[in-house]
This record gives sequence, C-alpha cells and structure tokens, in this order.
Amino acid sequence: MCGIVGYVGREEAAPILLDGLARLEYRGYDSAGVAIFDGTKLQVAKTKGRLRALSDMIQGGAAIHGTIGVGHTRWATHGAPSDVNSHPQVSRSGRIAVVHNGIIENYAELKEFLVGQGVGFASETDTEVVAQLIEYFYEGDILKAVGRVLHRIEGAYALGIICADEPERLIAVRKDSPLILGLGDGFSFLASDVTAIIKHTRDVIYMEDGEIAELTREGVKCYNHLLQPVSKETSHVDWEIDAAEKGGYEHFMLKEIMEQPEALRRAIFPRVKDGQVVLEDFTLDDDYVAAIRKIFIVACGSSYHVGMVGKYNLEKLLRIPVEVTLASEFRYMEPIVDEHTLVIVISQSGETLDTMAALREAKALGAKILSIVNVVGSSIARESDVVLYTWAGPEIAVATTKAYSTQLAVIDLLGLYLAKKRGSADDERILTAVRELLMLPSKLEQVLEKQEDIQYFASQYFNHDSIFFIGRNVDYALGLEGSLKLKEISYIHSEAYASGELKHGTISLIEDGTLVVALATYEKLFDKAMSNVVEVRSRGADVLALTTEGREEAMAKNANAIITIPDTDELLLPSLGVAPLQLLAYYIALMRGCDIDKPRNLAKSVTVE
Ligand code: G6P
Repeated sequence: MCGIVGYVGREEAAPILLDGLARLEYRGYDSAGVAIFDGTKLQVAKTKGRLRALSDMIQGGAAIHGTIGVGHTRWATHGAPSDVNSHPQVSRSGRIAVVHNGIIENYAELKEFLVGQGVGFASETDTEVVAQLIEYFYEGDILKAVGRVLHRIEGAYALGIICADEPERLIAVRKDSPLILGLGDGFSFLASDVTAIIKHTRDVIYMEDGEIAELTREGVKCYNHLLQPVSKETSHVDWEIDAAEKGGYEHFMLKEIMEQPEALRRAIFPRVKDGQVVLEDFTLDDDYVAAIRKIFIVACGSSYHVGMVGKYNLEKLLRIPVEVTLASEFRYMEPIVDEHTLVIVISQSGETLDTMAALREAKALGAKILSIVNVVGSSIARESDVVLYTWAGPEIAVATTKAYSTQLAVIDLLGLYLAKKRGSADDERILTAVRELLMLPSKLEQVLEKQEDIQYFASQYFNHDSIFFIGRNVDYALGLEGSLKLKEISYIHSEAYASGELKHGTISLIEDGTLVVALATYEKLFDKAMSNVVEVRSRGADVLALTTEGREEAMAKNANAIITIPDTDELLLPSLGVAPLQLLAYYIALMRGCDIDKPRNLAKSVTVE
C-alpha cells in the first residue's frame, strides 16, 4: 500500500526511480509521481493512474535530468486519487518535496495553524501539510527542520524528503510504516521494501520507529527523534533479483503458485532433524511452554485463514483452547489475555497495521508474542518475542499463495514442536505427521501437475456470477481461502460456508446451474461432505468436488467434476488442497481478462486501519 523510493548518486535519477516504482507496483496504488532536482530546481511530475502514464509523461525518465530524487506510488486515503493529490507534495515555494506512506492523524489541526499563518494549500492531502510545515520551520538545514516537524505530527508515516536548497541530501523518516535504506558505492537509496532496490544493492539498513536518516552519495547517517546519531547494523539480503521477476511466467501469481513446493522445502526441511521438529529460533523456555493455558491466533486476510486451519490443528495436537481472531476485531474486543496466553501473530508482510496494533495490545496485556512472518526485519518480526520466518521469498502478486502455504507449514511445525514439549501427542503421532510434512513438497508437485485439468474446469465455470465453497472443519477453513482467492482476482461474488450451516441460509441461493465447490478432503467427515453434495445437487447446483485420491469413485456418484489430491496426514490436507483452488481462481481470472497481479482496489500490504 503506497510505495516510496528515493535515490541519490551519480546516475540519472529518473529512470532509476521509475524502475524502483515499477517493482513496488504490486503493493497497490492509484497514482504515481517523482520529484528530481535538475541542477536549479525541483522538477515534479505526477499523475493519477498507472505508472505507465507517469513514464510516458517524462519519456521513460529522459525528460528530467538530475541525480537525486524521490518517487511514489499512492494509494488514496486523504483526498481522492487525482493528479493534484498525487505525491510528491511540495511546499508553496516549490523548494521542498515530500513522499509519504501512512496517515498524519492531526493534519487538520496543523493545516488550520498553517492557514492562519497565511499558507495556501493546493491539495486535500495530509502529506501536503508535512511539506508546508517543513518549509515553515526551515532555516537552512533540512534535517533540523524535519526534526522539528516530527515533534508536531501524529500518526503512522514513512517519509522521503528532498530540498532544492540542499540538493546533495535526502531525508528519510520512519514511524509505524516500513522504510529501508540501501547502501552502495557512490549512491544511497530509501525504499518501502527491498524489491525496489535489489537490482542496485543488497546491503540494507532497517530503520526503526522514530528514526531519521540522512542520505548522500557518500552514505547514510541515522539519528533518533532528538537528532542524536544512532549506529545501525547493515543487513545483507540473500535473495537474487530473479526472485522478484516473472521468469517467463505470464503473471507473478502463477509463478508463485508454482514456486510453492520449493518454498515449502525451505520452510520445512531445515526445521526437521531425526524425525523431530527443531525450532532453533524458538526461545521461550520449557516452563513457559508447559504453563500455556490458551492460544490466540491473530491475523488478517489469508493469514487469518491460515489461523483458521491452525486453530483446528493446534487444538487437535495440544488440547488447549485456541481462539482465532481477525486483528481488526482483536484490537477493540477486550480480549481475555494474560501471561499464560501465547499469541500467534501471522503476517506475510509483517507490516499490516491492524495486526501490528493487535500485537501491541496483546503484549501490553502480558502475553508472549510468536509471529509467523515472511518479510525479514519487518515491524511485526521486530516486536515479537519469537519469530518463525516462512522463507517463502519475495511475494509480488497481491493475492498471496506461497506465503499462505509456508505459513501453514510453519504453524503445523509449531504445533508438532509444542505437542512434543507439552507431551500432548504421542511420539508415533508426531513421527507420522513429520514424515508426511517432509513429503509435502513432492506431493504438492503432483497436484500442480494437474494444472491443465484445472484450466479446463475454469473454462467451464469462468462466466458464473456467484460461486460457493462448502466444507467442514479444515475443509471449511480451506474454503475460506479458496473463496477469497477467487473473489480477489476474478471479481466473482463468492462465499465460503461451513456445510452444516447451508440449511441456515445459503441454500436458498442455490438454483439451477449455481456452482458449488465442495471440499471433501477430510476423511473423517467425508460422508457428511457427500450428504451436502447431494443436498445442493438436488437443488440444481453444479458441483466441483475436491477430495483425496481413492475417493473419486464414491464422489463421482454425485459431483459433476472432481479434482483429487494425494492423501496425507489430516493436519496437512489444506496444504495440498489449496493449490487447485489457487489455480482455479487464477485461470478463471485469466479467462475473464482480469488484472491478476494487481486486482482493483486491493493492496499487498495494508498499512492503514
Ligand atoms: C492484504 C493482502 C492479503 C493478505 C492480507 C494480510 O489484504 O492483499 O493477501 O492476506 O493483507 O496481510 P499480511 O501481510 O498481514 O499477511
């Protein structure tokens, strides 16, 4: 959600900024812009719409010369998407330009103050207030002016700032919104995430909340909110640029679906030794583990769906109550949490604002926080007591696939690890599950080989207006993710229903030709699943069933079409079952001509409430 990139160096800044912004497109945006110092003044180009429009406007960067600048992709919050509301926002003299992710909560009050001082405003944005306020305080040192502004603004923000009077330095600020710094020989970068700059450098500094950085060609200096220098560690990003490129696939989403077996190998294999789960990063002691009385799982979107599967699996393994809650609800529900509660926070980006706020709330109530995160060094990772990384690699498509799968694997690993420590499952049970976990990547490869069958099913159903997913227990949790994937990228209305609830509502919507995707992978409830298939078929539905190998014959008596997955431990069924649903959503969206990697109105990382 919004992307920032800033560059100072010896090369032309405009093409570098455009390329960086293109790599941040996946985060979601509705307008884009750049501000570059051309040797005399700041040249600002910005426009509503896609990055291509900005690129055309400045001839791919050739129309603006200069070696220092900032760029932005905006996802509108304050003020509609428009040219004037796009970033960079500039001060009235045009000397100071600001790009901003997040929200300035007290902007109205600050604006009133500035208007009282005779400052005129061009846009409706909260960001313009920051630019104008910096100019108001500016006395020849941009770093000092920014320092003063930070004591006056409230909210969540990552800022990139450039001043025409000091055209050798960029200023970066971070509070509750991600920002990293990139270091190179003769250049420095600031960016919302590593993907924007990985082409140029893999040496990065993760800024902490409340920090300010000054970037020049020579390097980077960091300060705290009082402008006292702070020393920072440099981290080395160990993935290659190819990981953030399409590599021959038409869409990132398909590439990431196909990368899942490899991602699972990275998430699982190093954590299994001699048939046992070994979590080296798990630093909570045995006494604490033995005393856990309750687990809360908190997350948003697909990560929440992982939490749903996690609830079923952890309760089976640990026999303690597991509550799974949307982070946006957790924040305001007066949750019952104490020092014997383990709160598991799941987040691909590690930056989702609601999830972050829930984490802080839980921490304040005395809980220990264990997070399952993909982005290394992200805010959620840094504020957790224990972090289990998913090692899925960069995920670019807005609709998550490999991050979801690796989160699932990690929560299963965690369940087995805790079950062993607490003695809540016998060794044989754990060994069987671990054996199956190790086979998961190759079984998933078998599922992905059915790509063409699923493409065929998609061609049969892509023009349906409404698609239902039904299932029980882990199949219900799986249905939630299948349904979300479909609606996110194909814009088809879809609902996931716990099959037992059908007769309490959804069944009234079933009519001739309605497509119902019936999930029946969970052996213990196969007969129940079959009854629900009969129920919807008798009301005219077309049923596409997902079940395990060996049950297709039984299912064929009632379903119109069947997809199978290899059988596995019941804990792991959703890890295989999700792949056909991802592919189904993908091919349906493809046949409907949708913008698969960048679905309308959605953002990859939601950093506003
Ligand atoms: C956005 C993304 C979803 C994601 C959700 C939670 O809505 O589009 O794919 O599941 O945020 O994100 P997180 O990074 O916290 O997992």
